Amino acid sequence: MRLLSVTSAILAFIILVTEAKLAPTIRLNNGYEMPVIGLGTFESTSGDAERAVKDAIDAGYRHIDTAFLYGNEVEVGNAIRSKIEDGVIKREDIFVTTKLWSTFHEPDQVEKAFQRSFDNLNLDYIDLYLMHYPVAYRRVLQNIRLPSDDVNAFYVFPVDKNGNTLTEDVDYVDTWRAMEKLIETGQVRSIGISNFNSEQTERILSMATIKPVTNQVECHPNLNQRKLINFNAARNMTITAYSPLGRPHTPNGQKLALSEPKVLELAQKYRKTPAQIILRYTVQNGAIVIPKSTNKNRIQENFNIFDFELSDSDMQIMHGLNNNYRLIDFATDKDNKYYPFNIEF
Ligand SMILES: NC(=O)c1ccc[n+]([C@@H]2O[C@H](COP(=O)([O-])OP(=O)(O)OC[C@H]3O[C@@H](n4cnc5c(N)ncnc54)[C@H](OP(=O)(O)O)[C@@H]3O)[C@@H](O)[C@H]2O)c1
Repeated sequence: MRLLSVTSAILAFIILVTEAKLAPTIRLNNGYEMPVIGLGTFESTSGDAERAVKDAIDAGYRHIDTAFLYGNEVEVGNAIRSKIEDGVIKREDIFVTTKLWSTFHEPDQVEKAFQRSFDNLNLDYIDLYLMHYPVAYRRVLQNIRLPSDDVNAFYVFPVDKNGNTLTEDVDYVDTWRAMEKLIETGQVRSIGISNFNSEQTERILSMATIKPVTNQVECHPNLNQRKLINFNAARNMTITAYSPLGRPHTPNGQKLALSEPKVLELAQKYRKTPAQIILRYTVQNGAIVIPKSTNKNRIQENFNIFDFELSDSDMQIMHGLNNNYRLIDFATDKDNKYYPFNIEF
């Protein structure tokens, strides 16, 4: 009897420790839970993505963000299935997001595009499917010798000879209606939007029978999206923060928050790294963060933000870094009527 109670105490302790390693979750407007930190995988390719996803799961991540555009859905799916087969996680423990690319906005393309991502990931169901961007792109063959139904034969960023994007006149509202039908298949649990402004979000909400659970937008201390976060919160929608570290590997990103003296001071004060201060700030600001890394140490570093809290006055200091600086502005689409970044938020 005594042995039994000691064993169950040890078991309870193990469960507690395991659970303590996981990130908090946010309840979405349809009742599903989404972890407030996920691993980003844009530019994680050939071999790196699979290893990074495995390292992330070992570090405690239970949320992975991919997209058809990133070309790594197969690797992401392989990594997750391998961790399920090893008994580290169960399918329901992990939240997987992928996205509909802009070349597939015509309603009759949506189901086919979804099916491709679904097959690539091969995970029984997808947790969240996002419309990647409100503007529809034309499907232009890269090489006319390839069969026209081969998805790899199309340019993902089709441009004319002046470098302007070749777009299609497809209303994102019609694309959304086609995405709503995917929910009925049971192959996807939640749907959402990405790179939408407040007016476009309102327009979707005015016609939707299924509300988007999130809007995934660029969000970091230099573009803290306070207005869009509040706007969405009032409508029971979350904001997912992409490029939350400000893409420090890019020339424009180098000037941003990761090297900001005030962030370095706060890092010293809290005995944390600048990346941890920035990610913690954005989570306290009300968004879900999806930092990308393929480096095992940085994957762990980015996850360790749940054992401290920035004080109100330090949050004010961080708010002061906002200068509405946008890194990803889809500049070649500026003239399109659905271009999202022509208004304040
Ligand atoms: N919906 C959209 O339109 C959209 C657009 C962009 C991104 N996203 C999603 O958001 C994710 C994150 O955004 P992002 O990849 O653009 O940018 P990010 O996460 O802000 O920055 C990624 C860069 O930061 C480096 N890094 C990671 N951790 C670091 C740390 N602790 N200290 C210093 N450097 C660190 C990474 O290098 P290492 O890999 O070498 O660590 C990588 O070069 C993407 O991967 C993607 O999943 C979505």
